Amino acid sequence: MLNGEKVLFSGMQATGNLTLGNYLGALKNWVTLSDEYTCLYCVVDEHSITVRQDPATLRKRARALLNLYIAAGLDPEKNILYYQSHVSGHAELAWILNCFTYMGELNRMTQFKDKSAKHADNINAGLFTYPVLMAADILLYQADVVPVGIDQMQHLELTRDLAQRFNAVYGDVFTVPEAYIGKVGAKIMSLQDPAKKMSKSDENPNASIYLMDDPDTIMRKFKRAVTDSEGHVAYREEQPGISNLMSIYSAVTGKSMDEIEREFDGRGYGEFKTAVGESVVDLLTPLQARWKELDADKAYVDGIIKNNAERANYMAQKTLRKVQKKVGFPEKVR
Ligand code: TYM
Repeated sequence: MLNGEKVLFSGMQATGNLTLGNYLGALKNWVTLSDEYTCLYCVVDEHSITVRQDPATLRKRARALLNLYIAAGLDPEKNILYYQSHVSGHAELAWILNCFTYMGELNRMTQFKDKSAKHADNINAGLFTYPVLMAADILLYQADVVPVGIDQMQHLELTRDLAQRFNAVYGDVFTVPEAYIGKVGAKIMSLQDPAKKMSKSDENPNASIYLMDDPDTIMRKFKRAVTDSEGHVAYREEQPGISNLMSIYSAVTGKSMDEIEREFDGRGYGEFKTAVGESVVDLLTPLQARWKELDADKAYVDGIIKNNAERANYMAQKTLRKVQKKVGFPEKVR
């Protein structure tokens, strides 16, 4: 809560091309929730450098991601859309929170284990303390709610623990945030291996639908999606491939699983895959058109970047000053 209004915070990394998983697990809910809260949607470029990045590519992707937030329907006048690196409070609060986080807690983070296995030649301290920076992102704005996919739950739990630990020592400093996980789409799986989540960093391009894929590519990827041999469009644990396609179709169209089962009763997988593909094409076509317009309108987006970083900084400073005082840093002489 900040100035009497409930606050929502969320963010995405500008690494790799965004997938349908990112859209259905997070971005779609961001748009739905944006009417109810004061919302901050951050491009978390500081998190991205925990893995080596080409600077020009990172800069380009960060900008593309910000444009995508707007193209997906987030109003930049109403919501605060900005780059993490433009608000120094994130890194400053992260340092303080680092001093309240135990090594054992960070050692348990599954994302750290996965990423260090994948980047064995660069297990840096930033990768290890990544969740603390994420906690700082959220606590800096006194966020009440954080819409994320299921894979971020463990980081959210740590954020809550840190807020409570800090509050227990210094009084009510931080709002303890709640995760918001959507009913459908919170974990979209790979189209090639339904045991794995759909991921920006998957080496097989057929495993993920990218938000910028053209219609032919989208249709082809759905046609090639791995299914099982049962032949019924039914949502069951033993049919993870078809269940995943049903989750996608349900999240995109708003239809329930029962409705989908009835719609495709007696019809084969081929027809179903075509319907899923078409629904995704219909979803992404206007988003891509809007994105291209924004990409061409540099002055407009620059204005948003400047203005929104100022708004975020103002909010961040309020919390940061309070925290600095609590831990005993001397006040600035003005
Ligand atoms: P990131 O960039 O990996 O993913 C962005 C959002 O997309 C969700 N997501 C998915 N949802 C459903 N199915 C999938 N296959 C799928 N893949 C990704 C993620 O859960 C996430 O909500 N650490 C975060 C970024 C972050 C953040 C924050 C988020 C940094 N600070 C503060 C919230 C609040 C991350 O790497 O997300």
